[in-house]
Amino acid sequence: MAFLKRILRNLFARAEAVFDWTFGQSNNPFSHLGALGWYFFWIVAASGIYLYLFFDTGITDAYASVEYITNDQWYAAGIMRSLHRYASDALVIVVFLHILREFSLDRLRGKRFFAWITGVPLLWFIYICGITGYWLVWDSLAQYIAIATSEWLDTLPFFGEPIANNFLNSSTLGGRFFTLMVFMHIFAPLFMLFLMWLHIQRHARARVNPPRALAVGTAVTLVVLSLVYPAVSQGPANLDVVPASVNLDWYYLAVYPLLEVIPGGQLWLVLVVGSIILSLMPWLPPAREVWTPVVSLQNCNGCGRCFDDCPFGAIAMEPRSDGASFALEAVVDTHHCVSCGICTGSCPTATPFRRTSAIVPGIELPDNTIADLREKTMAAAQEFGDEARIIVYACDHSGAEILRENNSQVITMPCVGMLPPAFIDFALSRDFADGVMLAGCAEGDCYYRLGDDWTIQRLDGKRDPYLRQRVDRDRLETSWLPSGSSRRRVRDLQDFKTWLEGLPPKERKRRRNRD
Ligand code: HEM
Ligand code: SF4
Ligand code: SF4
Repeated sequence: MAFLKRILRNLFARAEAVFDWTFGQSNNPFSHLGALGWYFFWIVAASGIYLYLFFDTGITDAYASVEYITNDQWYAAGIMRSLHRYASDALVIVVFLHILREFSLDRLRGKRFFAWITGVPLLWFIYICGITGYWLVWDSLAQYIAIATSEWLDTLPFFGEPIANNFLNSSTLGGRFFTLMVFMHIFAPLFMLFLMWLHIQRHARARVNPPRALAVGTAVTLVVLSLVYPAVSQGPANLDVVPASVNLDWYYLAVYPLLEVIPGGQLWLVLVVGSIILSLMPWLPPAREVWTPVVSLQNCNGCGRCFDDCPFGAIAMEPRSDGASFALEAVVDTHHCVSCGICTGSCPTATPFRRTSAIVPGIELPDNTIADLREKTMAAAQEFGDEARIIVYACDHSGAEILRENNSQVITMPCVGMLPPAFIDFALSRDFADGVMLAGCAEGDCYYRLGDDWTIQRLDGKRDPYLRQRVDRDRLETSWLPSGSSRRRVRDLQDFKTWLEGLPPKERKRRRNRD
């Protein structure tokens, strides 16, 4: 499994590098696949509501109403029909990429299982919505789907009377089943929306909107596509004639050719067993147990910053239990906490400048303490050679280990968001290093969701605890890159080192003294 993830990760890294170059890192669609899923859902929902105004829900007039939509009102309802189709197709594409990417990044394991297992029924609903939608057009493709689906459903032992009898010929055609499809095509998306909401319940500040430029670019592409290749029907359904050939939408209908080669019952079995295996992925193999943060009430003043910053909503602020004069205290929900350490980075009491005896902050991971980080920073200073001395604080997912070979000292932690900004000040002002580099995941695509966002805001003085003004920003470098971008990471470090070494010795000293 780890090997498969590595291969996928490398493939994504290559594709993402191209998109980074084209769209810029913050608008890279790969970093916003979940948000794009929401976006396409809303386009499908809005265009669907518009189409419903003109659609005739009776089986005899459905086709004619869709023809009216497509031809007579091509400039409005016609475009809406195409948008409805293309946004639905795009939804399937982004969801499959989203699944593969989350899998390759391992963002499904251990306590992060929830989004994954709620995603599995979502997949089923996406298909129910798509297939029932194609049915409603009542053209020759819909006829093919209606017959194939009802024969397939008849292989299940639930239906007394075979459903396929409805579609034997035009005299047996009843509107009952068609009405059921209309009903399902309206209610399945509502249930899908509920599942989408459930899907992100363990995410604080879930990203459900793509960045504006990406949203506008995507909408314009869909409109242009709709004008150039409008969605059309494939000739009216006629149950007295078997359709000679139909054009399939492979995003939604790929299962139908399979029915030609696999018996329906077996295909159900494959899909159900496949879904069960997919649902078990977060535990294949079981994730290693990790420590969750410990709150030290002696040092917690109840400020709530850790509560604001936790990306997984794993901290609650509760009434004080130790009689201290503060109103609240932080309490960690160990079932939701994924041990990213970001709460430590946000705690105002997590600072290396305190006396060693008082170095325990309000909240920290027992296996990655602030005292350890301070020790490592001081130890790093002993290891430097003659070149510019750079301490790299890197997250475990940045692949920054490779930077060790470049005469720099790398201190890793679960997420860069765990690093209190005071450490940068500490390393520079105490002359432990000439420069500090922070190496984390790509901007807006942190393994722990929000670690890089919070770090950037803290460095810019927009979020507490912020980096003090006195720190010389020229001696701080950040490298936000996807894991697997080792060469670009090394280049970032080399550039920084070259810049630091290019400083005349006097200037280096002046800058050091200024801190
Ligand atoms: C309509 C379909 C889907 C939509 C709209 C969607 C949307 C999202 C969104 C908005 C996020 C949160 C991103 C963030 O704020 O960090 C997310 C996370 C995630 N989704 Fe989906 N998703 C869909 C389907 C799926 C499916 C089918 C799966 C897998 C079977 C899946 C697995 C995940 C995982 C593993 C995460 C990350 C969880 C974590 O960070 O702990 N999603 N999705
Ligand atoms: S370690 Fe991460 S997930 Fe756990 S409480 Fe702290 S910020 Fe939240
Ligand atoms: S950030 Fe620190 S001091 Fe503030 S509530 Fe959390 S643990 Fe307590």
